[in-house]
Amino acid sequence: MAAKRTIQTGGTLEAAQIPEDNKIENSLRPKRLNDYIGQKKIKESLNIYIAAAKKRGEALDHLLFYGPPGLGKTTLAGIIASEMGVNIRITSGPAIEKPGEMAAILNNLQEGDVLFIDEIHRLNRQVEEVLYPAMEDSCIDIMIGKGPTARSIRLELPHFTLIGATTRAGMLSAPLRDRFGMLHRMEFYDVDELKAIIMQSAGVLGVRVDDKGAEEMARRSRGTPRIANRILKRVRDFAEVRYDGIITEEVAVTALDLMDVDKMGLDHTDRNLLTTMIEKFSGGPVGLDTIAAAIGEDAGTIEDVYEPYLIKNGFLNRTPRGRVVTEAAYHHLGIEIGFMNAVQ
Ligand SMILES: Nc1ncnc2c1ncn2[C@@H]1O[C@H](COP(=O)(O)OP(=O)(O)OP(=O)(O)O)[C@@H](O)[C@H]1O
Ligand SMILES: [Mg+2]
Repeated sequence: MAAKRTIQTGGTLEAAQIPEDNKIENSLRPKRLNDYIGQKKIKESLNIYIAAAKKRGEALDHLLFYGPPGLGKTTLAGIIASEMGVNIRITSGPAIEKPGEMAAILNNLQEGDVLFIDEIHRLNRQVEEVLYPAMEDSCIDIMIGKGPTARSIRLELPHFTLIGATTRAGMLSAPLRDRFGMLHRMEFYDVDELKAIIMQSAGVLGVRVDDKGAEEMARRSRGTPRIANRILKRVRDFAEVRYDGIITEEVAVTALDLMDVDKMGLDHTDRNLLTTMIEKFSGGPVGLDTIAAAIGEDAGTIEDVYEPYLIKNGFLNRTPRGRVVTEAAYHHLGIEIGFMNAVQ
């Protein structure tokens, strides 16, 4: 019943995953590579490597996906497993605390399986070391006994494919990074791709969206499918309560303005970051930690989540001396360049 829905205007539109997503996100995940929209380069090479591995009857080489949250890393891992016709075992860096736990996971895999490790940069060193021989030679070394009689035995493992995902490729240790056969950087999606994703999700969720409505939501999705899906759900609520249920351009514009997402998809935090840099630091250069302290955000989150989109859209530059707000940002925010300097 439409009337029972509540319109949420606050809450998070950030790209980070939140528990309420899990159920719905799984239903919206495409299952085949052909239904996976965008990331053309990655798809092209995956198509080739998957076909080749299948032809040889071998496991696919180990893969690393990196890039901002919500761009489809987990989705892609699932697709690879189903295209290869194998099982996927999903875990994450912080979930594995001891080397023995990693050894047990590896030992339970079947020939050809995919092991997906999310947030792989958060594996601790000892756990990581179990992975090295596993990735290289499909074996693990186990220590038996203690003290002078201790000896290590080698355990053969089935061949498997490790898929690692991380938002921070820079934090991965070199030995681990070097053991991946393929490293893929996930790109932000363009408006047409996001529009296609919104249409696909609308089909799954049974939401009626017209072309202009989809385009408006796509433009404000911050280049991120997870945000596109989240916006779709919020705007649907709005359309059902305030309008006749169909998402048109007018509905999308009104709802998104209410959610404080602007024409470029910048949200409150994005704008706060840029405005603070302008008002407090004359537009920069200013260091990451200083910005973080000024707006009360974690420096890592700014670096992984906010900055990439602002840099990609030409609102922010990284220089050796710190971050600098660009002319385009002043323009977008409607602040005159030099105005702040004049009042200070
Ligand atoms: N290329 C795509 N085509 C269609 N839907 C997509 C695509 N990429 C992502 N999605 C949708 O976006 C949502 C988020 O994707 P996913 O969970 O794979 O992102 P992620 O990169 O793993 O994020 P995180 O870094 O937070 O783990 C999912 O609901 C998924 O269905
Ligand atoms: Mg994920």
